[in-house]
Amino acid sequence: MERGWRHHLIDVRGRGYLDMVNNVAILGHGEPRIADAVERQLRLLNTNSRFHYGAVVELSEALAARAPEGLDTVLLVNSGSEAVDLALRMVRAAAGRADVLALTEAYHGWTVGADAVSTSLGDNPHALATRPDWVHLLDAPNTYRGRHRGRDAGRYLDDALRRLEELDSAGAELAGLIAEPIFGNGGGILLPDGYLAGLADAVRSRGGMVISDEVQVSYGRLGEHFWGFEQQGVVPDVIAVAKAMGNGHPLGAVITTRAIAEAFAVEGSFFSSAGGSPVSCVVGSTVLRVLDEDGLQENAHVIGGLLADGLRTLARRHPALGAVHGMGLYLGVEVVAGGPDAPDPVAAREICEDLLAEGVIVQPTGDHKNVLKIKPPLTIDAASVRRFLGALGRVMELREARAAL
Ligand SMILES: Cc1ncc(COP(=O)(O)O)c(C=O)c1O
Repeated sequence: MERGWRHHLIDVRGRGYLDMVNNVAILGHGEPRIADAVERQLRLLNTNSRFHYGAVVELSEALAARAPEGLDTVLLVNSGSEAVDLALRMVRAAAGRADVLALTEAYHGWTVGADAVSTSLGDNPHALATRPDWVHLLDAPNTYRGRHRGRDAGRYLDDALRRLEELDSAGAELAGLIAEPIFGNGGGILLPDGYLAGLADAVRSRGGMVISDEVQVSYGRLGEHFWGFEQQGVVPDVIAVAKAMGNGHPLGAVITTRAIAEAFAVEGSFFSSAGGSPVSCVVGSTVLRVLDEDGLQENAHVIGGLLADGLRTLARRHPALGAVHGMGLYLGVEVVAGGPDAPDPVAAREICEDLLAEGVIVQPTGDHKNVLKIKPPLTIDAASVRRFLGALGRVMELREARAAL
């Protein structure tokens, strides 16, 4: 790829593509308001974040203003992995304990701490056998393919509470829970209603804290909600966020309470050379401004609804397309060979290749690599949605025609 504009990419030969996967470039590619702000700030000042400057105050206050009451302390870093790692260190310092509860089918990053709580088999086939002993796993409450489905999904919370009792008996010392509020890596699967709230209560009653990994699903992408945890009706103690926050520029943050930050300060001062540099902060503030100016969260709601309706219509017509997960502009389409228990990664990969030939970029995700992940820049419009649905429909019809030969 050589260039990008809004939700389109253009390769080195000048061919254009519809970008259906770029949740990092939430405002779209080539956004001039970001380019102008960066240029201005680069000419003015860009330095080590040990200094004080207006841009860091502006971004930190803007983030705290978007966070739930009480989460008023912001630490700026360069990536999602760094944010998750820092969040883990903070809850462990604040609790004075080391153990952490994590869910299977999740990805949280590549650094030592973030990797320790990452369980996604799509990213690391050995993940479940190799987690360190301070990480305790709960089964992913996967309502489509997991042990409890559909109306039985409430049972996942009962299972989790039982597991917590077992951990109590085994002497586990819980510092907290880390979870994505929606299974990003799993393809946008929503957690069962009340799951995270029930689990959060149980963790807190044991003196633990709750980290919401908002790296993939926040910043208005869900349409109805700015943060993913709002969908679950829960307020975390620590938010880890990145990706969309910098629209592709390396930027992440931990947002937490003053009490947790102060407990962490006992471990030494926190400092990240380029994390929250003047340029990074200006990018972060501009992203939030443009999101509002262009009404992109509302666009995620309206266009996401259109997209999900169109995908469900296609799924009714084409048996290889299973459930459509997610909300807003964070969607996943299962590719199956006969139902939830027959994920079809080969077909998913072929569909992505055929879509690429149609000039549409989609990639597979999930433990089985069989879910088409659909999370375009929030600039996407109705015309591009029609183009995408048309291309997917053609690809599916051709596959069926070929299979019938
Ligand atoms: C949910 C989640 N958390 C954390 C990360 C790590 O973020 P980064 O790649 O910016 O280090 C990712 C990256 O894909 C992610 O999806």
